Amino acid sequence: MIINRPPMGWNSWNTFAENINEKVVMETADFIVESGLKDCGYEYVIIDDCWSLKERNEKNEIVPDPEKFPHGMKYVSDYIHSKGLKFGMYSCAGTMTCAAYPGSLDHEFIDAKCFAEWGVDYLKYDYCYHPFTTYGHMLYKRMGLALANCGRDILFAACSWGSENTKTWIKETGAHTWRSTGDIFDTWESIKELALSQYKVAEYNGCGCFNDMDMLVVGMKGKGHVGLKGCTTEEYKTHFAFWAMMGSPLIIGCDLREADDDAMAILKNKELIRIDQDAAYRQPYFVDGNRIINNERKGDEPLYSWYPDHMPVIVRHLENGDIAIGFFNFTDNEHYECFTLDAVGLGFCTGKSLELTDVWTGEVSKPINDTVGANLPAHGCVVYRAKVVDR
Ligand code: GLA
Repeated sequence: MIINRPPMGWNSWNTFAENINEKVVMETADFIVESGLKDCGYEYVIIDDCWSLKERNEKNEIVPDPEKFPHGMKYVSDYIHSKGLKFGMYSCAGTMTCAAYPGSLDHEFIDAKCFAEWGVDYLKYDYCYHPFTTYGHMLYKRMGLALANCGRDILFAACSWGSENTKTWIKETGAHTWRSTGDIFDTWESIKELALSQYKVAEYNGCGCFNDMDMLVVGMKGKGHVGLKGCTTEEYKTHFAFWAMMGSPLIIGCDLREADDDAMAILKNKELIRIDQDAAYRQPYFVDGNRIINNERKGDEPLYSWYPDHMPVIVRHLENGDIAIGFFNFTDNEHYECFTLDAVGLGFCTGKSLELTDVWTGEVSKPINDTVGANLPAHGCVVYRAKVVDR
């Protein structure tokens, strides 16, 4: 199975954790269709940890908890499929999942067969409780092979949080996405930490095996399992825009049934989704004034880590010749940030400039004196989709 777009969908963990059940999952599927999120591209409905009993059955299979899923998983899967959506589940490479339910260690082929029989389309595969006598790449290869041989196309979403230098071996395992970060929480500090961690891994991304920055917290507003403090609308916009600029999977984590209008507007931003899902899937790069930071290296490590003031400017060249430009402000003060057109390949000699469309407001503008700039509120962002035009 090959995937050529970062997956989009919803996952139960951020809000529900062990309170997951059939009703929540099926109502969420209904909502994804009725609210128009499906038309925006959200398609996977994923049950995370805590779905099973604590013991396997006599055939060594994992058993769905009958209190949470009284009709079994095939029933939930059929319902999700009847809505034109896809069904995702969760397991772990260790003896237990992170929440201490049975993991798939030494049962990889049995579990993959069960998932195939239940009609699973996506498997998130975590890394808790793994034996210290073996390596992550061995365990992910095992499940990669089990899924590739289970008789059904199942997207393999690896979740080893970037540990053991995941980025260097994950593509060997058959994974379609790889989690480059620790867990997200519904706070500005968490969003900032995850976003800035991407300086070091942005280039380990691409078609076939997408860098997963973890699920979205947009709309959580401090409620649910990773709820904590919650964020402002401005901060949720920055979070969503950053994930889209980087081409991360867009997996919603709030209780959609209670999401407010601001959250829905962010999650449905068509231009950002279009950038996230751009068919060319070119590597994003960071610019700082006239310097292209990506090209400055010391050994194998990009030098993003010294980036001075937490105001990354990300650029991605898109399939139709447009350019996506994202200005982000991770500082606590208002700022102006800019770069000159040379930094994206449009030096004066080319005779070309850009027409900039703001993805939030639709406002159209042009660079002034060859300079693309943006006024950024604290914790805010400005993202342009830019068309190459004559000067
Ligand atoms: C890990 C993962 C999370 C979530 C939990 C479930 O922490 O990184 O995304 O799946 O396990 O226990």
